[in-house]
Amino acid sequence: MLITLFLSLLVSSVAATEKESALPRLTDTKSVEAFIDSAEVVVIGFLEGEEGHGYQELVEAAKRVDSVPVAICTEKEVWADYSLSSGTITLFRKADNHQENLSLDEAKKVETDGLLNFITINEVRYITEYNQVTAVGLFNSEVKAHLLLFANRGSKEYTELKERLGALAPQFTGKLLFVLINGAVKSNSRSLGYFGLKSKDLPRVGLYDSDSDMKWLLPEGEISTERVQEFCQSFLQGELKEVPQAGVEPKTEL
Ligand SMILES: *[C@@H]1O[C@H](CO)[C@@H](O)[C@H](O)[C@H]1NC(C)=O
Repeated sequence: MLITLFLSLLVSSVAATEKESALPRLTDTKSVEAFIDSAEVVVIGFLEGEEGHGYQELVEAAKRVDSVPVAICTEKEVWADYSLSSGTITLFRKADNHQENLSLDEAKKVETDGLLNFITINEVRYITEYNQVTAVGLFNSEVKAHLLLFANRGSKEYTELKERLGALAPQFTGKLLFVLINGAVKSNSRSLGYFGLKSKDLPRVGLYDSDSDMKWLLPEGEISTERVQEFCQSFLQGELKEVPQAGVEPKTEL
């Protein structure tokens, strides 16, 4: 009697976890579009089905990244709308209007850790916190200029400024990526030093253009939406090229 009870409990708990782990199914283009639009970064597995290559690994990976919604689409007519002809795991993001594909035919062996890397590396947001992982995705983007917010995590301005600039970022989609550099960790001291900054000088705003390898600081003062917006616009209009760069000692004439 007890054993039966125990077994039935076991069975029902297994059934419950399986149900929780099932990924949402998208069955038509409209629902795929709505899903893509629902978050800054989403992942869709365009996969044959639950038995197919990569499905279980995607379910496992999805459980481990809370910040990115994951769904599955098994309707081949819908795949065609995204020019996909075979099983592909695709990450869609808004910050640079990018669609990153992981074709499962090429990647012969699919592993959960590999999928996790694929997601976390490419998780570029309207404002992305800089670290060794996101650095890869940021520098792979076609958008080569970064608006940088240097702030110390734990300071009172940190969250407020992150939200303020994150709200401004959509205006510059495809032109600038907004990046948050936490000055409170040692690993970022090189990035700060590159701009001639130290942790105690923060918060500050800078801009780095990797095409020209030039960098500038917004002059000290309030980090308001208007000032940062003007700073971004003057960069895009080519006006910053006339302005002295950050972290460069002025040449002393002898
Ligand atoms: C991903 O695939 C789609 C459809 O083929 C294509 O339009 C897009 O450019 C691809 N993305 C990259 C980064 O190659």
